[in-house]
Amino acid sequence: MRIRLVHKQALLLVSSVLITVVAMGSLTAWNLRDGFSEYLAGRDIERLEQFADLVAMTAEKYGGVEKMEASGTNLHDLLHEFAKIHGASPIRALKDVLPGKELNAALGFKPPPRPIDSIDAFKDRIAVYHADGHPILGTPALSQSAQTIDRPVTLGNSVVAFVRMAKLKPVPNEVEYRFLAMQYKSTLAVSFLLLVTALMLALWISKQWVKPLIEIQGASELIAKGKLQTRLKTNRTDEIGDAMANINAMASSLEILEKTKRQWLADISHELRTPLTILRGEIDGLIEGVIDYSPTSMNSLREEVLKLNSLVNDLHLLALSDLQVLPCYFEELNLKKLISQIVDRFQRQAATKDIHLNVQFIEIEELQVRWDSRRIDQLVGNLIDNSLRHTDSPGKVFVTVQLKNPFAVSIDINDTAPGASENDLKHLFDPLFRADTSRSKWTGGSGLGLSICQQITNSHHGLLKASHSELGGISMHLELPIDGDATT
Ligand SMILES: Nc1ncnc2c1ncn2[C@@H]1O[C@H](COP(=O)(O)OP(=O)(O)OP(=O)(O)O)[C@@H](O)[C@H]1O
Ligand SMILES: [Mg+2]
Repeated sequence: MRIRLVHKQALLLVSSVLITVVAMGSLTAWNLRDGFSEYLAGRDIERLEQFADLVAMTAEKYGGVEKMEASGTNLHDLLHEFAKIHGASPIRALKDVLPGKELNAALGFKPPPRPIDSIDAFKDRIAVYHADGHPILGTPALSQSAQTIDRPVTLGNSVVAFVRMAKLKPVPNEVEYRFLAMQYKSTLAVSFLLLVTALMLALWISKQWVKPLIEIQGASELIAKGKLQTRLKTNRTDEIGDAMANINAMASSLEILEKTKRQWLADISHELRTPLTILRGEIDGLIEGVIDYSPTSMNSLREEVLKLNSLVNDLHLLALSDLQVLPCYFEELNLKKLISQIVDRFQRQAATKDIHLNVQFIEIEELQVRWDSRRIDQLVGNLIDNSLRHTDSPGKVFVTVQLKNPFAVSIDINDTAPGASENDLKHLFDPLFRADTSRSKWTGGSGLGLSICQQITNSHHGLLKASHSELGGISMHLELPIDGDATT
């Protein structure tokens, strides 16, 4: 059988309450018994001392102990006198500590029986001795021991006699026993009441705790089954509320991811369809004889195949970086030489478009960097290629290379109009994004270049940002650590 969380939690709460109640109950019972016996023993000694005083007063009245003895005064007379002055039994003691009702309850509503430590019993436990040790009154057999207590009887400044009392036995007498039993019963009843309340409370609290967990379980099950629109409603501010909010956030991320994936597949198939349609049309034209077999027609076919090839290569590279396995081969490179070579490669293309392409190195001469030369060539090449392709002629493209700090290099590429709108700037790095579709189709791009740039930058632990350029076009800011291989 599966034990549910609600039961486990309730059990835990109830058992902790049970342990507390049992511990407190036992402690109370133990304290009660011990404390009560101690109290009675104290009263007993007090009574003994009062009795010793009474003996002293009586002896004084007769003019000495011997005269009191000779007068025939017996223990019974003294105790009778004592009872008149001081009361008789522990019931008196109970009266001191309990109000009438509770006393009756303690006695079980019956007339109190004569307890064994009443005056009568006191009589059997007490004896008066002369100062030299010979018995005067009471049970002479009370020899001095750990079970007896002596109190002196003084006349003037001298001890003339002493009173000896046998201690009360620790076994509770009937009244005490009933009083204790009653206390135990009420302790037990309170404990039981506490336990029942704890059980009910535990079940209620457990339900409060477990309910949201059951909701979380249900929602995560639905999300796992693909129902990504599932959301949990909560206004809790505790950790459970956090967990619920996290599940909601996870579900929305998965939903967005799912949508992006579908969009991505649709976009890719669309991208592949365009060159394939052109290829098919040209091949059909060749077969049907509409197009002549000529170096020009063959070149056109080759260009379409090359476009397809580069598109597939770009997609592959992006897929690799998505899987975090974009291979990089880091090596020591001369920064100035590397960037100069890349820029030089584009000078002819820039001249054809009447664009002035210029590179400037600020305080950089012989800086060695640790990058993957092929990937950096592709990254900076893509950025310059973009500037050349998406800039109106005549125009300008300025490349500035400088040290950002002792550990990083910045490369800024600024160009003249056209620029991009705020919204376009946000999406520039999205795969397959093109700012102005008709224009970009004309410039021949697939919209993967900047995504690739971003991935290469990431693989070198750098950053790439686009903003408006002071020249009127776009400003690309690239920052790369001198050691692109360093993992920190
Ligand atoms: N320097 C720039 N000036 C103006 N627009 C730009 C610039 N760089 C990028 N863009 C805009 O951003 C879009 C995305 O650029 P990206 O490099 O990703 O793709 P692409 O150049 O169109 O194609 P390719 O995959 O061949 O690079 C471009 O289509 C263009 O509209
Ligand atoms: Mg591009």
